[in-house]
Amino acid sequence: MAKRSATVFVCQECGAQSPKWLGRCADCGAWNSLVEERPVEGAGPAAIAGHRYASGAGDGGARLYADISLENHPRLSTGIGELDRVLGGGIVPGSLVLLGGEPGIGKSTLLLQAAANMAASVGPVLYSSGEESEHQVKSRGERLNVGNAPLYLLAETCLERILEEIPRIKPSLVIVDSIQTVFSLKFQSAPGSIGQVREAATQLLFMAKGQNIPTLVIGHVTKDGSLAGPKALEHVVDTVLYFEGERHHSHRVVRAVKNRFGAASELGVFEMTSTGLRAVPNPSKMFLAERPMNAPGSAVLCSVEGSRPILVEIQALVSTSTYGNARRMASGIDQQRLSLLLAVLEKRAGLNLVGDDVFVNIAGGMTIDEPATDLGVLAAIASSVRNRVIPATTAMFGEVGLAGEIRAVTQSALRVREAAQMGFERCIMPEANIDPGDRSASSGCELIGVRTVGDALDALLS
Ligand code: TYD
Ligand code: MG
Repeated sequence: MAKRSATVFVCQECGAQSPKWLGRCADCGAWNSLVEERPVEGAGPAAIAGHRYASGAGDGGARLYADISLENHPRLSTGIGELDRVLGGGIVPGSLVLLGGEPGIGKSTLLLQAAANMAASVGPVLYSSGEESEHQVKSRGERLNVGNAPLYLLAETCLERILEEIPRIKPSLVIVDSIQTVFSLKFQSAPGSIGQVREAATQLLFMAKGQNIPTLVIGHVTKDGSLAGPKALEHVVDTVLYFEGERHHSHRVVRAVKNRFGAASELGVFEMTSTGLRAVPNPSKMFLAERPMNAPGSAVLCSVEGSRPILVEIQALVSTSTYGNARRMASGIDQQRLSLLLAVLEKRAGLNLVGDDVFVNIAGGMTIDEPATDLGVLAAIASSVRNRVIPATTAMFGEVGLAGEIRAVTQSALRVREAAQMGFERCIMPEANIDPGDRSASSGCELIGVRTVGDALDALLS
């Protein structure tokens, strides 16, 4: 019988395995994505069996549901309110958190700040960087006022070496700066390959759960915005946070896309300053700061991200297309959604946009993808076409259906409250969202319910 070869070829896109090299992955169809991966002798499931997944699991056998005590470990605060908010109220002991984002967006800065805070308030923190030397990390720390907290830096890429340091330091938090730079001695493939990344994440998971040490891991994203390497990584960790923002704006948004211990799609807003990231307690104020008053094509939208209402300004510019090939550009909202809304405007509100260029932008570089945005986008476009100003004290929200109806959205009370707090006097919203009897608002903001696109435009532009 032929000896079974230990080598496998693993697709770096989807993780599918093949016993021999193929030019195209048979599973996901990606070209030239298979890489040879060879585990070192003695590695594999047997080597992992020594680790017990969760601490205090008794003899390891199955236990009766009713016998399991409800341990309510208090969450640990990172000392950064906005980060605690996205984590669902602080970091859960023993959890593994992945922070993804483009290069240079501020991942290392944010986690170094969190590390310094936790070192000062909870206990020693291990910050392991495979990307920068201790000196580089320290010189960044100087700008962030890290001070004398027990923060241990380790410039290391070998996973086993990092894990060795943990019993020595007994950290209250472990940070691994970029999972893509870490490699395990058990695999021969290069750091960053799918096998290495998955192995590193799994071992860190065992460490975090087994020793009850919260662990934060930084991950790079690829050009198309997904976490580099494996989707598999997202399944291994408890929480996935994404760091978003534009290079030309100082504000940054951290979003939870998966959270086993809190609400997903929760949002934290930061500003990058010369002394690190600063939390922005009132994002609505920041996003509306440069709003032009009395300009056509500008509408204020009440959006909700996670549990937080945010007011943003939507700008639209409609101009005659010179070359007969009308352009439609959306930034901050979905391009397909824009096409759909333009079709609704033409068909249901009688606006003729065939020969026009349409540009739509959310001011401040924010991205929003909830349906309640529709009414704001539509209003901004109509305002620009008709060259009529939407009153500066009017805010709006609502989903638009294909028949031109305005549909109810979630969390309307929260949206109205935020608008009232920011000094808006009128709120144009779906009729179905208004409680009869609460029309003129306990909140001090007049609520105007609309059923169709036509109604909405009348209410906004007349
Ligand atoms: P960094 O945390 O290194 O990004 P990442 O780890 O995501 O690649 O952030 C680097 C950027 O942040 C860099 O462009 C400089 C800027 N920055 C500040 O503006 N102020 C600061 O205090 C620090 C530390 C960085
Ligand atoms: Mg970095």
